[in-house]
Amino acid sequence: MTDATSTQVQLASRPTGWPTADNFSIVRVELDDLAPGEVRVVNDFISVDPYMRGRMNDVKSYTPPYVLGETMTGGAVGRVVASASDAVTVGDTVVHQLGWRDVAQGDAAGFRVVPQIPGVPSSAYLGVLGMTALTAYVGLLEIAHLREGDTVFVSGAAGAVGSMVGQIARLKGASRVIGSAGTAEKVALLTERYGFDAAFNYKDAPVMDQLAQAAPDGIDVYFDNVGGDHLEAALAAFNDGGRAALCGAISEYNETGPAAGPRNMANIVTRGLMLQGFTVGNYTQHFPAFMADMTEWLTAGKVVFDETVVDGIENSVEAFLGLMRGENTGKMVVRTTPQD
Ligand SMILES: NC(=O)c1ccc[n+]([C@@H]2O[C@H](COP(=O)([O-])OP(=O)(O)OC[C@H]3O[C@@H](n4cnc5c(N)ncnc54)[C@H](OP(=O)(O)O)[C@@H]3O)[C@@H](O)[C@H]2O)c1
Repeated sequence: MTDATSTQVQLASRPTGWPTADNFSIVRVELDDLAPGEVRVVNDFISVDPYMRGRMNDVKSYTPPYVLGETMTGGAVGRVVASASDAVTVGDTVVHQLGWRDVAQGDAAGFRVVPQIPGVPSSAYLGVLGMTALTAYVGLLEIAHLREGDTVFVSGAAGAVGSMVGQIARLKGASRVIGSAGTAEKVALLTERYGFDAAFNYKDAPVMDQLAQAAPDGIDVYFDNVGGDHLEAALAAFNDGGRAALCGAISEYNETGPAAGPRNMANIVTRGLMLQGFTVGNYTQHFPAFMADMTEWLTAGKVVFDETVVDGIENSVEAFLGLMRGENTGKMVVRTTPQD
C-alpha cells in the first residue's frame, strides 16, 4: 500500500510561557493496513493556529488538551491515496482534523470531500474557504451584529481572521473600517490591499491614542483578536450601543503572569455596550451561508486573501512559533508535500 510511513509531530512536554522546539518531538510511524471504512490521505497542507497554544496546557477548555506523547491534531487538507470506504474515492481532496502529520489515516467519517477549484490552492480550505474566514463571518454578523453604516475596528487585522473581518465588514455595509497590526508592511497592506480606511502599528504608540486618532467619531463594532490594551482602547472608543465580538486574546497566550484586563469596564454599563465571546465550532450552522457568500465574493474578485507557506512537516513547530511571533500575513500553513 502507498505512503505507509507517516512523519508526525507530538507534544513531548508542556510549555510554560513561549513554547520551544524542545517541547515537541518528530516521530516516524508505520501505518497499519486500512481497516474496513478507513481511508489514507497524503496531506498537502496542515494548519497551525493560535488556539493550539491553549491545547498545549493541561487545562479544561472548549477543546481537550493535547496528550503528551501523542500526535497532535488540527486542520489539514490532502488527497486520498487509498480507501476502504464507499464514501471516499482515491483522488478525492478532503478536509479533516488529522493535521501535524504528512500522511493521515482514519475512519472515512472524519474526512470531508471538497471540490478542487481550478486556480485555487487546496490550502484555501484551511483559510479563506475554511475555519478562519468562517470565524470572521460569524463573529461580525452573528455575534457583533454588524449594521450598515457601522464603524468597525479589528485587531490582528493582517492575520487569517482579521484580514477577512475587514473585507467582510466593507462588503456588508460598514462605513469605516480600522485595523491594527504589528509591522509597517502589514499596516500598508491593510489600506492598500484589504480596503481598510485607516490602519496603525500597535507597536508604534499606545493603542488607545492611535485608535482615538483613527476613529474621531468613535467605533460601533470591535472584533477582538488580541485582548489586553486593544480591548481597553476599544472600550474607550465605543459609541453608545457598541458591540464587540471577542474572538481571541493572542497577547495573553504565552503570558505566565495574570492577564492584563481592561481598566475601563464601567464603560460597558454607561454606554450600553454588548461584549460577547464565541468559538466558531458552535456556529457551524452558518457554514452554508458563509460558503455561498465567500464563493461569490472570491469569484467576483471582491475578496482577496494571502497565505504564508512554510515547507516541510519537520518545520511545522517553527511555523507555529512564527505565527505566534507575527511572521505570517494572512493564513499560516505548512506544505507537507515534498517540493521539487
Ligand atoms: N473564537 C474562535 O472560534 C477563533 C477561531 C479562530 C481564531 N481565533 C482567534 O483569532 C485570533 C487570530 O487568529 P488567526 O488564526 O487569524 O491568527 P493570525 O492573526 O493569522 O496570526 C496571529 C497574529 O497575531 C498577532 N499577534 C501575536 N502576538 C500579538 C500581540 N501580543 N499583540 C497583538 N497581536 C499579536 C501577529 O500579528 P502582528 O504582526 O500583527 O502582531 C500574528 O500574525 C487569535 O486570537 C485566535 O485565537 C478564534
